[in-house]
Formats: sequence, C-alpha cells, structure tokens
Amino acid sequence: MPDRMITDVLAKPDAALEMTLRPSVFSDFTGQAKLKERLEIAVAAAQQRREPLDHMLLSGPPGLGKTTMANIIAKAMGANVKSTSGPTIEKAGDLAGLLTNLEEGDVLFIDEIHRLQKTIEEYLYPAMEDFKLDIIIDQGPNARSVRLNLPRFTLIGATTRSGLLTAPLLTRFAIRERLDYYQAEQLQRILVRSARLLNVQIEELGALEIARRSRGTPRIANNLLRRVRDYAQVRADGQVTKEIADRALAMLEIDENGLDEMDKRILESVIVKFGGGPVGVSSLAVAVGEEPDTLEEVYEPYLIMEGYLKRTPQGRVATELSYKKLGLTMSLPGQPGLF
Ligand SMILES: Nc1ncnc2c1ncn2[C@@H]1O[C@H](COP(=O)(O)OP(=O)(O)O)[C@@H](O)[C@H]1O
Ligand SMILES: [Mg+2]
Repeated sequence: MPDRMITDVLAKPDAALEMTLRPSVFSDFTGQAKLKERLEIAVAAAQQRREPLDHMLLSGPPGLGKTTMANIIAKAMGANVKSTSGPTIEKAGDLAGLLTNLEEGDVLFIDEIHRLQKTIEEYLYPAMEDFKLDIIIDQGPNARSVRLNLPRFTLIGATTRSGLLTAPLLTRFAIRERLDYYQAEQLQRILVRSARLLNVQIEELGALEIARRSRGTPRIANNLLRRVRDYAQVRADGQVTKEIADRALAMLEIDENGLDEMDKRILESVIVKFGGGPVGVSSLAVAVGEEPDTLEEVYEPYLIMEGYLKRTPQGRVATELSYKKLGLTMSLPGQPGLF
C-alpha cells in the first residue's frame, strides 16, 4: 500500500491552524540560527537609521517558515504588510494598484514570486530600485507614459524555486536568504510549543517521534501533531507519548524517516531505472513525472541532507541508504539490483 503523500499536506495548508501556531516574533522562531541573526541585525540597523528595510528574498522548500519570517520581520519593523502572490497579479494594473496603495515603510509580500509574469516583473524593477512606477495612460495617439513616485517600501519575495527567478529580479534583492530543513531536535521544540498552544499533553519523546517523521518541515510536524492528537484522544487518554505517537503514525502510514511517495519514487527511479546513477536531473525528472526545478529545489535537498542521494558532477547517485530504504541490494556496476 503506498504511503500517503506528505507533500499533500504542504499543498493545502490549514489557514486557521497556521494562524494559531505561526510565531510572530524572532524569539519564537526556532532554528535557522544564522539566517535569524542576519535578519535581526538587518532589521535593527534599518530601524536605527529610520529607513525602510532593504528588499529581501526568502527561498526554500514549502513549509519551512518563509511566510512566517516575512511577517515577523514586518512586525519587528512596525510595518504594515500587504500580501499577494505571483500568480494572482494578472495585469500590470494589479501591480500598480498594490504599489500605489502602499505607505512609507510598508512591506509588500509577494509569495511565489517566481510565478510573476515577465511583463509585470519589469514594472517592479524601477519600483524596487528608485521607488518609481511608469504607467501608460490613455490610448492610441494620446497614450503617454507617466512616472509616479512611490513611497519607500520593502518588497519581501518568497519562492520555493529561486532558480526560476530572472537575474534582473534576483539582483534587485539586497538581502537573499535560503531556509533549510530543520533538525529533529528543532522540530521537537516547535512541536512542544505547538502542543502548548493547542492544549495537547505531549511527552518530549512523543514530540521527538513526530519530529523525526516530519521531513524536516515545521508545517508537516504541526499537521502530524493534530492527527496524533486525534488518535491519542480516541484510542488512549489524550496524552501523546512516544508509543502513542508511534502507533498513530503507523496507522497514518507515515514513513519511518518522513519520506513521502515522491521521495521514494525518486530513489526507486535512480536505482531501478538508472542502475543507481549517475543520472542527470532532467532524465530523472522525466522518469518521475516532475519538473526538473521542483526536483532540484523541493525534493533533492532533503534526500541529499539525509544521505539518500549524492550529487556528483556526472549526476545523481543513490547511496547504500536508499537501497536499504527500498529493500534492495546494491549490485556490481552495470548489473541490476536484486529485489
Ligand atoms: N522556525 C519556526 N518555528 C516555529 N514554527 C514554524 C517555524 N517555521 C515554520 N513554522 C510553522 O510552520 C508553518 C508553515 O510555515 P510557513 O511560514 O507558512 O512556511 P512557508 O511560507 O515557507 O511555506 C507556520 O504556520 C508555523 O506554524
Ligand atoms: Mg508561505
């Protein structure tokens, strides 16, 4: 029976839950220590100078805290946030509307900024650089370009696919930071905090068990916590112990190591279809039916971090750990693996 797609959870974040559990200050944001320090300094420095913060790009796989961090930063700056996303800005006029409604110091948050249309993106360049907006008014022979002054604002862009950003846009972000997967101990801390906010009784080891199986991702951890809570309530006394967490996650068919179906499909392809590799990312992408960029930016980093996959100049290579994971034996070069 296939494991559930953990990334399904990522695709449909529960808005109410995220509101409750989303930390709103730096001190509640667990992990990402270096990034956090750099951003705290940038915020403090801008405030001391009484200037808006430089434009900032936050990248990284889904569910790691990009939106959370953008909101923490805005709050620390005492700024209002206007949120939108790349695909919802359909016309240049939509962007102009957003920009002209900003006030001095406001944060404009554009999620999935890699999905902004190229023609719209071009309006952003002068807006980001000089706080100017060129708009065309009137039509036909009367059409003329008018330059509007914009208030000094901060653009915070978020993307899961920084590789898809054009160079001109990328270079206009003075601050660029990438969020990394979390260690189990950090997710454990996040879970203990979430459990407190949700009034769930949890033991440290229960939290660690959920953490280990959350694919390094706070959003997954928080979602699993809720499912485990239900189990603990109905099948036990409500307390999330290690044993209860274990039983609940087994029932939910959550992988021991947090891998989801796509992760396993990737490993299986490298091993079975490509003899363990090396295989180039584009061939692998075709084999698993995913886009090369998604593979590279959303799936691979975790598999590499956990030691399932290696990136070599010749391509991706499966490690012994992935053979073990799939219950296959590593074979001599050129021979298919044994089942
Ligand atoms: N560093 C963190 N500390 C605590 N909770 C976090 C952290 N990062 C993310 N979360 C939790 O995970 C959820 C998803 O984070 P979010 O910022 O929406 O991810 P992204 O925008 O990168 O997809 C948030 O609602 C929050 O509860
Ligand atoms: Mg987000």
